[in-house]
Amino acid sequence: MSDSYEGLSTHYDLIMTSGYYDYDAYARTLLGLIGDRRRLLEIGAGTGLVCEKLLDLAPTGLEITGVDHTESMLDQARRRLGGRAEFVQADLRHLTLPSRFDAAYSVGGVWYFIHDDGAGGDGIDSDEPVLASHLLEEDDNITALSRVHAALKPDGLLALATQGPHRDHERVLPGGLVYSQKIRLAPDNTFTKDYYVRRAAGNGQGGAGEETVAHQRCEYRLYTMEQAERLLKQCGFRSEGVTSDGLFHYLTRQ
Ligand SMILES: C[S@@+](CC[C@H](N)C(=O)[O-])C[C@H]1O[C@@H](n2cnc3c(N)ncnc32)[C@H](O)[C@@H]1O
Repeated sequence: MSDSYEGLSTHYDLIMTSGYYDYDAYARTLLGLIGDRRRLLEIGAGTGLVCEKLLDLAPTGLEITGVDHTESMLDQARRRLGGRAEFVQADLRHLTLPSRFDAAYSVGGVWYFIHDDGAGGDGIDSDEPVLASHLLEEDDNITALSRVHAALKPDGLLALATQGPHRDHERVLPGGLVYSQKIRLAPDNTFTKDYYVRRAAGNGQGGAGEETVAHQRCEYRLYTMEQAERLLKQCGFRSEGVTSDGLFHYLTRQ
């Protein structure tokens, strides 16, 4: 089973747009990367935040199809975008879209790279980027990447976003809420990430009376860079490099 975002979906936008992701930066870099490619597939489109930025910033029309398996995320995406983009509810492992896309991208969707700084602390501690996947089984990763491969035209682009350090931390959100995340590494190349949204009681210092308003646990598989390149190559993708700002690893469909 792959992670559903049902538990977090009501608070997702609040967390993400108050400092978690810089959607503007991701969208600008992605637009530079895709050049004149027009038909895009978003992997793990969530509430449509990346899609909206791309459509707002693109100088000419884009045709975006977003795929996600969490209906409560897609409901928000459909409301946000109206008819400007198409959204398909599907688990990526079972995706059956015709081979018509010029590019596919994921910003924290099913796959993403983590570029830590090796500074230690609770979390992932590696100087070299690692690939995180919502899919825990190797076979599922191969199946889902092959589905993306099949949906892309020959020479199509695959762009996977990079995120910064994955550590335990806490952050104040608007409306008297507090976001926190806890990362637990397991010895088998997986990690668990617990997302919490809490309403601070009384003095806002937490503790007694604090109410958890949302909690979600996701489990991820980790691939070293070498393993990731082998996996992606096996699924028909050739690694082309990393954008100069480090925000996307990009590959071409062979
Ligand atoms: C961190 S959210 C990213 C959403 C969006 N790209 C953004 O940047 O805001 C990850 C999304 O991937 C989706 N997801 C995870 N595993 C999936 C799978 N196997 N198939 C389809 N979607 C999946 C989740 O439902 C969730 O909406």
